Amino acid sequence: MQQWDVIVIGAGAAGLFCAIEAAKRGRKTLVLDNGKRIGRKIIMSGGGRCNFTNMYASPANFLSQNPHFCKSALSRYTQWDFIALVQQYGIAYHEKTLGQLFCDNSAKDIVEMLQQECDKAGVQIGLQQDIQQVSFVDGQYQLTTAQGVRQCHSLVIASGGLSLPNLGATAFGFQLAEQFGLKVLPVRAGLVPLTWQPSDKAVFEEISGVALPVTADANDTQFPEDMLFTHRGLSGPAILQISNYWQPGDELRVNFAAGQDVTAFLTEQQQQHPAQELKTSLARLIPKRLVDKLLELQLFQNQPLKALNAKSIARLDELLTQYVFKPNGTEGYRTAEVTLGGVDTNELSSKTMEAKKQPGLYFIGEVVDVTGWLGGYNFQWAWSSGWVAGQYC
Ligand code: FDA
Repeated sequence: MQQWDVIVIGAGAAGLFCAIEAAKRGRKTLVLDNGKRIGRKIIMSGGGRCNFTNMYASPANFLSQNPHFCKSALSRYTQWDFIALVQQYGIAYHEKTLGQLFCDNSAKDIVEMLQQECDKAGVQIGLQQDIQQVSFVDGQYQLTTAQGVRQCHSLVIASGGLSLPNLGATAFGFQLAEQFGLKVLPVRAGLVPLTWQPSDKAVFEEISGVALPVTADANDTQFPEDMLFTHRGLSGPAILQISNYWQPGDELRVNFAAGQDVTAFLTEQQQQHPAQELKTSLARLIPKRLVDKLLELQLFQNQPLKALNAKSIARLDELLTQYVFKPNGTEGYRTAEVTLGGVDTNELSSKTMEAKKQPGLYFIGEVVDVTGWLGGYNFQWAWSSGWVAGQYC
């Protein structure tokens, strides 16, 4: 039986980062993963450029049943710490928008950096591992795999969530938590496109490809970003962001004219171009194909601007700024970037990430009930939670 100080399950962002820190402390550390290579999600993240952190990351950008839980880890290993590491490796990066930092060249730069850090610290990595059983015997964890039994003092679960099953996602971490009597909160797909009801699909799929800046609003939360009509429903950053807050059955309210004063615009247009058709004016506020669709749905009547009165302008304002969709659901884990819910943070120490009632068992990264917004926040949680666990495991 092989003996290790630390075994980390999952060679993703959180697992690798934790293993590096543990090995730097002199702990004999092994990372096991079911895939053929390390950091598979990192490589495909951010369109291949990895949005590795966000300059404005703060606890307010995360969802969790306990919003205070993430504070400790995020404050002890910050985005600036990770940026310093990226700079140390000479990896070129840029801010795309809203504090989101992307590699200039390729996400592979981040994976290579992690591999080099693992090599420097002496982390061993075992790939294509099928972990069949985990048991706790005489204060140690025993892992049975096809390659034999391994034993360790500290077991760190960094197996991620359920998104992208074709990339190796499994429910391993949730099942292991339950095996040791830890509560797992219900999980659902997050940062995911929303799908049409059949009636909306018939209407809106014709304008798939239309994108516009909107404010998307659900459950008292709003995101002003771009939205995209697709064949299946709504996507784009505004929709991915709001999908974390939207629940089946909820309304989604969209302001198609975000940042614009529709009433003031139409009143001014009316004075300057009284003979102009209403649809021509509206097409200066929102994409023409969307205007045509709203007209086809008979949601407004096309007429010269001079025919509008204050009441009809107010109705148009409401139509454009408070359009209500009733999405059918989400595209699910097939396309979701993250999994909401997971191992209940009440079961873990926010300082160490160790299970309160199971000594030596740690949970980090996405498997924990901490989920970030779109924009580099989820990787920051993986780095921060991995780093703190690496100081103690
Ligand atoms: P992660 O999922 O990365 O790693 C878990 C590892 O455990 C995997 O290698 C998996 O194969 C392995 N594993 C699972 N079950 C196992 C088992 N039973 N046995 C052994 N190994 C097992 N975030 C962000 O901040 N910026 C971004 O640009 C993006 N972009 C992005 C794009 C896409 C397409 C997706 C799907 C996601 C993102 N994300 C993101 C989210 C980000 O990728 C995610 O939050 C982190 O990768 C989570 O890191 P973890 O290490 O917790 O899990």
